Amino acid sequence: MTKPLLDQTTTVEIINPTFRTVVENGSLQKLPAYLSQEQLTNRAFVITDTKVGPLYGRAVSQTLLDAGIKTTVLTMKAGEQHKTLAQAGNLVDQLSDAKATRKDVIIALGGGVVGDLGGFVASIYNRGVPLVHIPTTLLAMVDSSVGGKTGVDHGGKNKTGSFYQPKLVIADPTVLVTLGPRVYTEAFGEIAKYAILDADFLTELETAADRLRSYSTDNLDILGKIIARCVKQKSNVIATDPREQAPDGRILLNYGHTLGHGLEAAGDYTELLHGEAVAIGMTFAAQLALQLGLAGEEFITRQTRLLEALGLPTRYTGKASIVDVMKHIEKDKKNTKTNSIRFVLPRTAGQLTVEQIESSVVNRAVSDFVVAQ
Ligand SMILES: NC(=O)c1ccc[n+]([C@@H]2O[C@H](COP(=O)([O-])OP(=O)(O)OC[C@H]3O[C@@H](n4cnc5c(N)ncnc54)[C@H](O)[C@@H]3O)[C@@H](O)[C@H]2O)c1
Ligand SMILES: [Zn+2]
Repeated sequence: MTKPLLDQTTTVEIINPTFRTVVENGSLQKLPAYLSQEQLTNRAFVITDTKVGPLYGRAVSQTLLDAGIKTTVLTMKAGEQHKTLAQAGNLVDQLSDAKATRKDVIIALGGGVVGDLGGFVASIYNRGVPLVHIPTTLLAMVDSSVGGKTGVDHGGKNKTGSFYQPKLVIADPTVLVTLGPRVYTEAFGEIAKYAILDADFLTELETAADRLRSYSTDNLDILGKIIARCVKQKSNVIATDPREQAPDGRILLNYGHTLGHGLEAAGDYTELLHGEAVAIGMTFAAQLALQLGLAGEEFITRQTRLLEALGLPTRYTGKASIVDVMKHIEKDKKNTKTNSIRFVLPRTAGQLTVEQIESSVVNRAVSDFVVAQ
């Protein structure tokens, strides 16, 4: 077993149930030890996809087999279009054929698609089997593996699913070396969002932005710290508001997401990656906040500078029509009243507010924002 490049381990405790998140370079090779600490050494079922499987699936299963853990790898096709109820059913059938039980563990090895689908399968098979997430995209490390939301795209994106916490999350930043540059960079849309919610983190991220802009093994130390910071922040918010009910809790994590989701959906999920859409959505929300007298120019400039330094877009240059974008914003599940749209808006770094904005005001602001590009 090779020595980890850095001992960057963070343990995040979530209230009821409790689980650990480990952010550590080389942690994949130590998987049996981590599983053993959680008494998860019966059989392992590794759910992965056709891209991640060939890269890391074999190594993970060999590490487990070497440690005496009987392991089966179940592979699904890579891509959002395969995050379906049919695929979940298929995996349930495979678990059933292999006579998997609640003493076994399901390990979701992959990006957010595998994490959401694998987590959903773990939550429904036998009414719940222990789950371990091994996120392999930066987005999955800082976002989708934290918080317990699982699901598939049935009846709409992420419409069918469950809240189901893993026993353990193992994030090994060294696996990001094989990630495409665009998929690496888009995760910084979410990371920048966390930073805007926390003034100290914002300063830290601004200082590190140039080094983080592209993946480099030279920067694994800072990358590990940033991932751990995001995990802690999301975990803390979720621990106090697990089901998004508090007015100043989990909902604040939707900063940048209202327009972001609208742009993603109006572009049929092919134009923009999620984190890119969030970065554009944050820019829009900041401009709307300026227009409403909530935020100042200085804040907008600071946020735009950060997003650009990280290599993220701040303008929408796609083909979707404003009518389409508005249609999607208005039917977003996160909007409550019919004639107004709920927005998370910034006042300044670390101070955000949730406001109901008249649809007509939003429509005008979206038109101005898109036309101004
Ligand atoms: N549950 C949540 O709270 C939550 C939060 C945010 C996003 N999500 C979900 O996450 C999904 C997006 O996740 P994503 O951005 O990780 O996409 P993804 O899982 O589709 O991964 C992107 C691509 O990268 C490949 N890949 C993954 N790891 C790799 C690696 N280390 N090297 C090379 N290739 C690799 C994948 O096979 C895929 O082709 C969406 O379905 C979204 O709904 C869920
Ligand atoms: Zn998001």
